Amino acid sequence: MNEVTTIDHPLVTHKLTLLRMKDTPSKDFRELVKELATLMAYEVTRRFPLKDIEIETPICKTTKQVLADKDVVIVPILRAGLGMVEGFTHVIPNAKIGHIGLFRDPETLEAVEYYRKLPTDIAEREAIITDPMLATGVSSVHTIDILKDAGCKNIKLVVILASPEGIKAVQAKHPEVPIYCACIDEGLNDHSYIVPGLGDAGDRLFGTK
Ligand code: URA
Repeated sequence: MNEVTTIDHPLVTHKLTLLRMKDTPSKDFRELVKELATLMAYEVTRRFPLKDIEIETPICKTTKQVLADKDVVIVPILRAGLGMVEGFTHVIPNAKIGHIGLFRDPETLEAVEYYRKLPTDIAEREAIITDPMLATGVSSVHTIDILKDAGCKNIKLVVILASPEGIKAVQAKHPEVPIYCACIDEGLNDHSYIVPGLGDAGDRLFGTK
């Protein structure tokens, strides 16, 4: 079953509360999403492998560790997932970035793909999907389907807020994909918004409300 990690660091909790507040303007909202993504990236990369190298300090020669070469692709789900990309590339500067654009068909409630651009070597990379909101789970499940079809074997899902319903949906279809979030909220309302949540993350990021 999916490993679900809630990153409940005080800095994360503090910034998340500011993000939730309805009067937080877009400029601050964008900045907070970027900062949260940077903080979350520390936890997401916690088990990245290290390798020994020989170095020389001003005092002596010694063997110390640096990151082993690890190829990463960050995959934001358009459009709100874009807000988290800079935070991740700040910590993993050599990562490539793939894009998946999805909207939800209002009739069938299925995810409909309208854009896909992924690096050609994606099958060799560890994939980190970013989306601030794991609500119904439809977009996340569909994006994981796409990445698996593209050959990805190692996929992580990183969201800021998760609903229990969304976690359950990902668990049902992709039980091996670890989920990272800053908080698991109470649930979804009749319009599939997360409660208490933070509203529409895309509109708040891009000022389109
Ligand atoms: N997407 C959002 O932006 N907000 C929600 O609460 C749910 C889905």
